[in-house]
Amino acid sequence: MRPTRPVSSLSEDVARGLFSAPRSLPPKYFYDERGSLLFDRICDVPEYYPTRTESALLEEIAGEVIGHSQPARIVELGSGTSRKTRHLLDACDRMGCHPLYAPVDVCDEILVISGEALSVDYQWLDVRPLVGDYTAGLGNLPRREGRNLVVFLGGTIGNFAPGDARDFLREVRTTMSAGDSLLIGADRVKEPDVLHAAYNDDAGLTAEFNLNVLRVLNRELGADFDLGGFEHYAHFNPLESRIEMHLIAMRNQVVRLDGFDGALEFHEGDNILTEISCKFTRAALEELLVETGFEVDRHYESAGLKFSLVLARPA
Ligand code: SAH
Ligand code: AVI
Repeated sequence: MRPTRPVSSLSEDVARGLFSAPRSLPPKYFYDERGSLLFDRICDVPEYYPTRTESALLEEIAGEVIGHSQPARIVELGSGTSRKTRHLLDACDRMGCHPLYAPVDVCDEILVISGEALSVDYQWLDVRPLVGDYTAGLGNLPRREGRNLVVFLGGTIGNFAPGDARDFLREVRTTMSAGDSLLIGADRVKEPDVLHAAYNDDAGLTAEFNLNVLRVLNRELGADFDLGGFEHYAHFNPLESRIEMHLIAMRNQVVRLDGFDGALEFHEGDNILTEISCKFTRAALEELLVETGFEVDRHYESAGLKFSLVLARPA
């Protein structure tokens, strides 16, 4: 998908994010093929409740969502392996509604893997993958006659800072017309120990996923990060209602990157913020949607209010 505004390159993001304090990186750089497959494995660890919770809820409501939205096209933002989307496709099949499916993701490898699997399992499905950064503008999303169902699952909206989430949803709204629907998943505020466990799984997959961003920098920018010199650290910040995921330098170290004049100096204990994952109350999620030009049609909540799926339409 061609961007509609300039997208910063990895070098520019590194120059901005790592050569000034506090250090941070955009989360999209986790998702090379290895990172996408690691995320998919995280979805199955016992501590990471969001995927199975959202999946069970989506399975329950899929018929109602499809019946209500009657899509000619499903556009999925940040689709990954599209594993939960299958509940929507199953409902489509049951109801004799056969929309085109346009998954949008920054990781081209995962789009190929999931597109091939979907085409085998849903012979009727016309899959039109779009590789690109959805924060670089949605103006080039292909238009189509008929109703669109825009899907944004996983709680990925929580990976945006609040102002960016608002800007992004406003932009999503501008791509939509009367009759279109948005189905958005969001993780809910809950006990800190449950949240902490979800981002610190015993199998160490979240740690590997976090460290994967340094592998990406080594490969793409010729950097010489020693992965053994950094540790995964994730904690719940109740004041901001979000998980904050960091990489912490375990010792003093100097990292060189091709094309950069100066080296990066880390002192023991220095950190890089690699991801935030905001957790919502029911009210905060609905407020975000209303503020960005949506009207809430249905708000579905999982058992124990762990996760929300909201079906909304342009106001
Ligand atoms: N929706 C899936 C995957 C969530 S993981 C689920 O619920 O399980 C987040 C997905 O968003 C990844 O597949 C990642 O590659 C994609 N992604 C992250 N940042 C992106 C960006 N800026 N533009 C497009 N896709 C992005
Ligand atoms: C994609 N996103 C919603 C995940 C989350 O929970 O914020 C990414 C993730 N990070 C660590 N574990 C999973």
